[in-house]
Amino acid sequence: MQRIAFFSDTHVSAKHGFFVENALATIAAINALQPDLVVHGGDLSVNGAEDADDLAFSARLLKRVAPPLAIIPGNHDIGEEPHALHLNQPIDAARIARYRAAFGADWWVHDLGDWRIIGLNSLLIGSGLGAEKEQRAWTESTLAAARPRPIGVFLHKPLQLESPEEAGQPEWTIDPRAREDYRTLFMEHGVRLVGSGHLHQSRARLMDGMLHVWAPSCGFVFGKALGGEQTLGFSLLELSEDGAASARFVRPAALVDHDYAAIKGNGRYRYLNECPPAPWRGEM
Ligand SMILES: [Fe+2]
Ligand SMILES: [Fe+2]
Repeated sequence: MQRIAFFSDTHVSAKHGFFVENALATIAAINALQPDLVVHGGDLSVNGAEDADDLAFSARLLKRVAPPLAIIPGNHDIGEEPHALHLNQPIDAARIARYRAAFGADWWVHDLGDWRIIGLNSLLIGSGLGAEKEQRAWTESTLAAARPRPIGVFLHKPLQLESPEEAGQPEWTIDPRAREDYRTLFMEHGVRLVGSGHLHQSRARLMDGMLHVWAPSCGFVFGKALGGEQTLGFSLLELSEDGAASARFVRPAALVDHDYAAIKGNGRYRYLNECPPAPWRGEM
């Protein structure tokens, strides 16, 4: 059996250091468990899509992860799809290059025992950039080459919330126009596990023969009901040789529940990066 500690949405920054202590406590708890692999589900930073210092700070923090680590980008790190703008930071070549300089490839494959683990850049999907087609072709050939091994796929945004037929909610899921394509691809190639972040909620649900695991944020929850449990922590995944996957939620005792609305001045600031500086004073 292989174990993956799957954590996400750390949202750290030296300038806006609200959640750094929670990230450090989570990394310490993960290291103590000695999993075979650690996956970060993206949104490493507060404002990495705009500010290279936030990416560099996140990269330094992640050096504390002791087991092998694989990272996928979040919208706060590499920019957003043009049809799902929230921070008005569309993904583009410069943002992709900055991300890759800090963390390496934004899509990748990693072998873990009998399993093959694939990480995707979900912010490319629907972007219209050349890299979107490149990643799509790579995904198909990598899935095909993995057979008959069990496959786990990680991407920042989930394929769907409740069902593949639901109305599009591009703020929360991958581009709804591409959902059927990726879902079919995953099902045809026997994907057993789909891990995602972004929602800051914890859930594990079997849909279409795949265990869809939402890693909660270890930093903060934002109080929007999306169908998962609004709690801080991470997910511990167990992958057995016969292809079965299970997920267990873990909440490190040291995590602090921050008042997210209060941090944002109860409506005064729209985004974390607009809040008055709250520098993190420790060594990183
Ligand atoms: Fe996030
Ligand atoms: Fe996100």
